[in-house]
Amino acid sequence: MIKGRENPQDARVRENMDRIAYKVAVVSGKGGVGKTTVSVNLAYALALRDLRVGIMDVDIHGPNMPKMLGIESERFTGDDTDIDPVEIMPNLKAASVGNIGYDPDAALIWRGPMKIGLIKQFLGDVQWGDLDYLVIDTPPGTGDEVLSIGQDVHGMSGVVIVTTPQEVAIMDARKSADFATKLEIPVIGIVENMADSESVTMFGSGGGEAAAETLGLPFLGRVSADPRMVGAGDGGRPYVLQYAGEPVATQLNAIVSRIVEYCKGAAT
Ligand SMILES: Nc1ncnc2c1ncn2[C@@H]1O[C@H](COP(=O)(O)OP(=O)(O)OP(=O)(O)O)[C@@H](O)[C@H]1O
Ligand SMILES: [Mg+2]
Repeated sequence: MIKGRENPQDARVRENMDRIAYKVAVVSGKGGVGKTTVSVNLAYALALRDLRVGIMDVDIHGPNMPKMLGIESERFTGDDTDIDPVEIMPNLKAASVGNIGYDPDAALIWRGPMKIGLIKQFLGDVQWGDLDYLVIDTPPGTGDEVLSIGQDVHGMSGVVIVTTPQEVAIMDARKSADFATKLEIPVIGIVENMADSESVTMFGSGGGEAAAETLGLPFLGRVSADPRMVGAGDGGRPYVLQYAGEPVATQLNAIVSRIVEYCKGAAT
């Protein structure tokens, strides 16, 4: 880009993103492995540590982040280049396609039907302000939305790859890792979600860790399968908030600490 010729929207995206210290995208090759669950718990855990956090959902076709955050009925306010995110706590803000609503007046603030344009609005026109972290929840795979995030988020800290312990985990994690490498985005590490515990047996355990080892990527940790995770998500009160102190919350917090360590280390 020739200096001085940057288009206004790209300039807004750059300026907005420059005010956020660390930007972390949560990705997976396969659907339903727990990206949104990991994203909302990561965002909450960071906010509970008194950090300034934003969480953004670029799942245009099936945004379920608002439900997991208990903000389904919230709608954006502001105008088309000055959109206020939904405030969950003073230091936790959220923006999801689900918060646009079906009100035709409110929908008018979103210029153009293109996914990429919409994502650029989330990045450039939502007034995130100064943040420590922006957590970006993505749809599965490596489609337009994830590509757009990879290309448009300036100074992306890295991606967190979520897998389940099943054998296909290695294949899925490899796809996500290859994608990140092509976009020159660091992989922070792999999270193995829905692992078996003493009380719950579902998909086995160890596949995510094996994938990390095979691919030479850091293993961020394991989150056990816990039926209460579903209720916490459906009820809009994330697990780390509702079940703080429980073993699975401890697992989630250990993963959050590793992500924080990575981000701080990468920034120095
Ligand atoms: N550790 C866990 N234990 C039990 N249930 C879980 C766990 N993690 C996630 N779930 C449940 O699995 C389902 C899928 O999780 P989630 O929506 O986070 O996945 P996703 O990867 O974001 O899906 P999609 O690809 O559709 O966006 C949800 O009902 C969620 O509550
Ligand atoms: Mg999801």
